[in-house]
Amino acid sequence: MKDSNQVILQEISNLRTKEEQWEPYPWFREMRENRPVEYDAGQDAWSVFSYDAVKKVLFDHELFTNKKTRSLIPIPRTIDTRSNVNMVDPPEHRKRRALLAQAFTPRSLKDWEPRIQEIIDELIAEIEGDDIVDIVDKLAIPLPVTVIADLLGVPSRDRHLIKAWSDILFLPYNMDAYEDIEQQKGKAMQEFGAYLYPIVMEKRANPGDDIISDLTKAELEGETLTDQEVVMSAIGLLGAGNETTTTLLSNLFYCMLIDQPGVYQELRADESLVPKLVEEVLRFRFGATIDRQVAQDTDIFGPPMKKGQVVVAWIGAANRDESQFDHAERFDIHRPGKLQHLTFGAGPHFCLGAPLARLEANMALGAFVKRFSDIKLPGGFNVSEHLTVSITGQSLKSFPIEVKR
Ligand code: HEM
Repeated sequence: MKDSNQVILQEISNLRTKEEQWEPYPWFREMRENRPVEYDAGQDAWSVFSYDAVKKVLFDHELFTNKKTRSLIPIPRTIDTRSNVNMVDPPEHRKRRALLAQAFTPRSLKDWEPRIQEIIDELIAEIEGDDIVDIVDKLAIPLPVTVIADLLGVPSRDRHLIKAWSDILFLPYNMDAYEDIEQQKGKAMQEFGAYLYPIVMEKRANPGDDIISDLTKAELEGETLTDQEVVMSAIGLLGAGNETTTTLLSNLFYCMLIDQPGVYQELRADESLVPKLVEEVLRFRFGATIDRQVAQDTDIFGPPMKKGQVVVAWIGAANRDESQFDHAERFDIHRPGKLQHLTFGAGPHFCLGAPLARLEANMALGAFVKRFSDIKLPGGFNVSEHLTVSITGQSLKSFPIEVKR
């Protein structure tokens, strides 16, 4: 039986097939233009699609709270501990976030650059031997999981385990397999916790230079975190940093080969365009959603929204809103000014890992462009064969590309 606290995204959207989920943009456009604020009675949930409405939902925590009793987030509720930054609003949120924020500032990340470069160089060296490589398997999956494991101080040789558990925790629910998914998540949570627990105890006794060690020493309202709280924070970080960054890395290559063929040679000629391409991919190809709960009755968007109802902010739709971006449906790395896409969220919960995700993507693509003279799509490519289900929007489970040294 479906837990009544669980809001099922697939029931709200019109995106039935995996191909429609991969290319949700025509539906996003239709909703933005004709039904920008939509109610789904079955899930008792609103959806907003325009840039301004999405931004309002993310910023205004007094109207749209993160203290949720119902949610899209398919992570078991046991993850809600004192150190969890998710299910909480400011001012409480600020203290919890401060615990983690230190590790992710651009300055702290600077110290990690040599290690990230080493990981990238190893992965690229493995690609060099082949003419056709699955870029998801060879780069997009291993890079983020190895980096986040290293940052936390978890052995990166266990990356397959970490990846498998976090994939299950991020699986979206659907009505047909609700109980099975629930059971898988419970099991993954238990195994992940049992794996991390001794690591946390060891680091409490012998702290090292890593985030788990820092968390064992950190204080929240005068008290250190319990082992269980550190384990939960570590699971949160290991999960949050993984699938999203894998999606970004895979999509970089998809955009270069399919959305704007030829752009790779532009990067070869001018490597300073790499960060611009990364930002445009973040804007152009991320179908993600974020949810909040209505904290007090409001008609701020027109129709009456009732306290307790869920609001789904469709970030991927906001990112293609013509009122914010000229020729929004076109992939264009030469957009003037600073891109204000909402892929990392906005407001108090803005993604803590954004500097890390950007750093990984910029460094990986920079190294790739230096090493390979061209990339091509192999003949007979059919995207349907490479799609998977994911809560963060549809993503590529594999993507074969031809590389030329
Ligand atoms: C391309 C990669 C990524 C994307 C698209 C992404 C996206 C997001 C979004 C949209 C939010 C806001 C959620 C909300 O408002 O409810 C968020 C929050 C968060 N992200 Fe990321 N993320 C990425 C990578 C990472 C990485 C690498 C980490 C680091 C481990 C990370 C850690 C977090 C954390 C801890 C939060 C919660 C912040 C808070 O609630 O204050 N993310 N992310």
